[in-house]
Amino acid sequence: MDINITRVERSKLNEMSLENIPFGRYYTDHMLEADYENGEWKNIEIKPYQPLLMEPSTAALHYGQAIFEGIKAYRGKDGNAYIFRPQDNFKRFNISAERMQMPQVPEDIFMEGMRMLIDLDRNWIPENKDHSLYIRPFMFSSDPVIGVKPSDSYKFMIILSPAGPYYNAPIRIYVEEKFVRAAPGGVGYAKAAGNYGASMFATAQAKKLGYDQVLWTDAYEHKYVQEIGTMNVFFIIGDTAITPSLEEGTILNGVTRESAMTILKEMGFKVQEKKISVDDLMDAHKAGILYEVFGTGTAATITQIKELRYKDYVMEFDVDNSKTAPELKKRLTDIREGRAADKHGWMYKI
Ligand code: COI
Repeated sequence: MDINITRVERSKLNEMSLENIPFGRYYTDHMLEADYENGEWKNIEIKPYQPLLMEPSTAALHYGQAIFEGIKAYRGKDGNAYIFRPQDNFKRFNISAERMQMPQVPEDIFMEGMRMLIDLDRNWIPENKDHSLYIRPFMFSSDPVIGVKPSDSYKFMIILSPAGPYYNAPIRIYVEEKFVRAAPGGVGYAKAAGNYGASMFATAQAKKLGYDQVLWTDAYEHKYVQEIGTMNVFFIIGDTAITPSLEEGTILNGVTRESAMTILKEMGFKVQEKKISVDDLMDAHKAGILYEVFGTGTAATITQIKELRYKDYVMEFDVDNSKTAPELKKRLTDIREGRAADKHGWMYKI
C-alpha cells in the first residue's frame, strides 16, 4: 500500500502550547484521507490538515451514513509514542461500517495509516496529566446524490487532536425515562454519528435541570439501564462491579469498558455483565451497598458520578472518599503512560 505524504512547511506547534488544552478544539499539522470508489480504496494520502471541499448534495450530510472511532495515543516514560488498543477500535469500526451498509476499511489503511500519521505528528502528544493525543478515524458517504440509498463512494479520514480531560470533575446524572438512545435491532452498538446527534435533545433537557448527562434506559419499559451520555456505566454494589450486558445490541462495546472489567477483576472485584434495572439500583442504594457509579470511555476515561436522580429519588455518592474509580483510573493511566507494566499487551508502539 502506498501512502503519499505531503508535509507542512511550518508546524502550528510553533505558535501554541500543549499545556492545559481543552478536549477536541485543536488539530495537529497533518491528516489522513482515502477515497473509496468503484469498489476499491485509492488516493491514500497524508497531507496538511485542511478544509474539505464537498458538494452540498454529499449524501452523508443528508442521511447520516457516517461512523467514527475514538482512540488515544500517549508518550511513554521511555520517550516512545504508544496507542492504546487500536486493534480493538479497528475491529469495532468495521462492525459499525457493516451495520451502516458501508465498505470495510482495510487493516493496512487504518492501522498503518494511523501509525504513519502519529509518527509524523508525534510532537503533538501532550505530556500533562490527563492529557493525550485523541485520534479520530471516521468515514462518511460521499456520493453527490440525494436519493436514499447506500452511497457508491466514501471518504475515510483520520484527524488528531491534542486533548485535555473531557470532564474535569465528577458529574451529575439524570435517569432518562422518556427519550431513547437505542432499541434492539437498532444501531446502538455501532459508533454511528447519528447516535450522538440524536442524544443531544435529551441531554439539553437534563442540563436545564442542572444535570450533566443522562443515564439512558431501555426503549420498551424505561426500566433497564444502558449507558451514561457517551460512556459505558459501572455500578459497584457490595463486592461486585456490574455493567449492562451487550447482547441486545443497544450498548457500545467500549474498549475502556473491557479494560475496566479486566482491571476490576485484578483489583479483586467480581465483575458481572448483566441486565440491571433502576429498581435494582434504588434497592441497593436503600440497603447502603451501592457504593460507586462511574462512566468509562475513551474520551472520558473513568468519570465518577456524584449524583444519580430517578424521578424524585436522588442517590448521592461521596466521590471524595470513593476508592474504586480513582484506583481503577490510576491503574489504567499508569499502563497508558508507561508507569506500570503492560501485561495485557494493550500498548501499540509507534
Ligand atoms: C469517545 O470516548 O471517544 C467517544 O466516543 C466520546 C466522544 C463522542 C467524544
